[in-house]
Amino acid sequence: MSDQRTSVPAVRATKRRNGDAPLAMMTAYDEPTARLLDAAGVDLLLVGDSVANVVLGHDDTLQIGIDVMAHHTRAVAAAKPSAMIIGDLPWMSYHLTPVQAVESAAVLIRAGADSVKLEGGANRVPAVRAIIDAEIPVMGHLGLTPQSVRAMGGFKVQGRSVDGADAIRRDALSLQEAGCFAIVLEGVPDVLGEAITAELDIPTIGIGAGPATDGQVLVFHDAMGLSGRHVPKFVRTYGAIGEAITAAAAAYVADVKDGSFPAAAESYATSDELRDHLGEA
Ligand code: KIV
Repeated sequence: MSDQRTSVPAVRATKRRNGDAPLAMMTAYDEPTARLLDAAGVDLLLVGDSVANVVLGHDDTLQIGIDVMAHHTRAVAAAKPSAMIIGDLPWMSYHLTPVQAVESAAVLIRAGADSVKLEGGANRVPAVRAIIDAEIPVMGHLGLTPQSVRAMGGFKVQGRSVDGADAIRRDALSLQEAGCFAIVLEGVPDVLGEAITAELDIPTIGIGAGPATDGQVLVFHDAMGLSGRHVPKFVRTYGAIGEAITAAAAAYVADVKDGSFPAAAESYATSDELRDHLGEA
């Protein structure tokens, strides 16, 4: 890990109410993307289990295990970014026992992550404590937690009722108490994002949680216009990379079809002797 890399203590200390700038986090699943996002100044690179949706084409994140996450974490780490790398623990890699959770977290750390993220509140505190006890920093994730899609009955905004909001607030305090250094808040009303951010001493990082959180995170493919899937309301699209790729590929296909690619400049020159020899063959 380079000395330049954003550290866990630096992230843990970031609160907008203290005048700090919001943290900018984005997902990355491979070396070139990590390198480009790092050059853009992204603070935190999340090797999210959303790789299952946006790269591998699954309908949910339940289809991948720790081996897939380690593979992509290794690719992101190869970029040697200044941004902190967070490895996402996939479904069923930390649900069975705290020992299983520590072993899974260690796989991602050995693949190059600086910290791990897991979904869930008070029910995950034993796993969080065990991982932290093994010296591995943990980021929490509350609200619309995609690994709970079956239990939630779909990808639905959470915490809309008073009871639902209070349950998420209690979970956030439990995760802070257990030692998480930051918490992702996904798919919750903006006022709940604001209230939890005010209640916690650790930073909140929002995705569909309104403007008041201590940071924001977006899925790279959604933000860059690369996603073939339905893009949620909270996404702002910053690029039309998908269209640019289709246009570039269409130009390539046209050049191949009309014979203009490759040209002489894109071919290896040869000697007259070899040309004559082959011409005689
Ligand atoms: O996997 C992921 O991309 C995430 C973000 C939505 C926070 O967990």
